[in-house]
Amino acid sequence: MPSALKSAIGIDFGTTNSSVARAIGQSSGNLDVELVSFPRRGGVTESFRSVLYLERMRQAGHLRIGTWSGPSAIEHYLDADRKGRLIQSLKSYLSSSSLTGTEILGRHFSFESLIAHMLRDLRTQAESQFGIVIRSAVVGRPVRFVGAETEAEEIYAVERLRRAFELAGFESITLLAEPVAAAYAYEATLDHDELILIGDFGGGTSDFSLLRVGPGIRKRGREPADLLGNSGLGLAGDAFDARIVRKLVSPALGAGSLLHPASKMLPAVPAWIYANLERWHYLSFLRTRNVTEILKSARVRAMEPEKIVALMTLIEEDLGYQLHQAVQRLKYELSRSESAELSFVDGSMELRQVVTRTEFEGWIAEDLSEIENCVTGLFETTGVSYGDVDRVFLTGGTSFVPAVRAIFERRFTLDKVRSGNEFTSVARGLALHAAEVS
Ligand SMILES: Nc1ncnc2c1ncn2[C@@H]1O[C@H](COP(=O)(O)OP(=O)(O)OP(=O)(O)O)[C@@H](O)[C@H]1O
Ligand SMILES: [Mg+2]
Repeated sequence: MPSALKSAIGIDFGTTNSSVARAIGQSSGNLDVELVSFPRRGGVTESFRSVLYLERMRQAGHLRIGTWSGPSAIEHYLDADRKGRLIQSLKSYLSSSSLTGTEILGRHFSFESLIAHMLRDLRTQAESQFGIVIRSAVVGRPVRFVGAETEAEEIYAVERLRRAFELAGFESITLLAEPVAAAYAYEATLDHDELILIGDFGGGTSDFSLLRVGPGIRKRGREPADLLGNSGLGLAGDAFDARIVRKLVSPALGAGSLLHPASKMLPAVPAWIYANLERWHYLSFLRTRNVTEILKSARVRAMEPEKIVALMTLIEEDLGYQLHQAVQRLKYELSRSESAELSFVDGSMELRQVVTRTEFEGWIAEDLSEIENCVTGLFETTGVSYGDVDRVFLTGGTSFVPAVRAIFERRFTLDKVRSGNEFTSVARGLALHAAEVS
């Protein structure tokens, strides 16, 4: 009879997708993993989009702010006639001490409380599927948080993540590096020990671990020396999206467009507005009075006012999600085909442009070399040589990008590079670790 290990819960709170898993003991002594299925229109999904939607609503005669997360956030957002606020990539704010909170629909929210809302929904959905009360879990953390450049910023991000879990009703959480968790998920498929390199490429971060795993190691008990090293950087799928927005979308929304000659040919809209447009976590907060005033004034004096109007429509009607979807579709298609079309409609503006994979790879070339340097650095600091590695396991959504995979295919023979469970391996490994330590 399978028996649920009550406390063996793993939670992967991702920049783009989150998932929750529980380890289950089998009569054979092996462990199995069950993932939480989240309801969504027309079915269920194991990967819960890490988004929040807030909207003003009237309830029993009172005005209040309704908040939804995951698939239901997207559904409420799409159904709303007057759009509230959809927020994406909240995890990327954790390290930033200058951003402690934000005003949404006239109310102040701390970032921890926004993240906590999502975590509470993950917890309650897991509780209802598993029929248990969840107050503790093993939780993933990136090797390096997005934007964290110092040790103090890393510590700050961890504190905020812990605080968000506390607000969401957790009494104790154990943190584990996300790539190490992915390694434990891969380990469950092994019948012998291996020295492996894990690459976990998500929305916000790319993380690497070099470690020894396998049934022999589990049996003798893990030792600190089994983990040879971790490395990571706050650059992944969202950064690739930013390149697409910069190259294709921002110019159609007035980036580089000038004010009327009488105004000395200055840029119509300040560059920082486009910089915020490129980052999903900043885009959600562009709808402010200050930005509206800047754009209104730019519109009357711009040489190409229709582009400024399209930018105003995007911000005022909160079309960030549609933009995100259009960019995702292009990127996904470029992972499969040599060329694809970006198709984005914003009010009267219609943007259609074919992009080849080679062009896209040119746009992300700097990002790819930063990723490559991070991998090289891990081998240099650990003194391990590429030939010592038995297997390379790539996971996370961004590992679908052929140019990311190519970094490994150039260094290791093809038969050594594997991938799989792109959206669930971290949660699976976290649950297995929870079972191991409980
Ligand atoms: N087929 C694909 N081709 C290219 N990119 C993809 C594909 N599928 C998903 N992605 C990208 O993968 C990212 C999401 O991956 P994943 O769910 O592993 O991230 P995450 O765990 O939420 O983020 P993180 O681990 O950084 O916190 C997004 O940037 C998404 O655009
Ligand atoms: Mg991840």
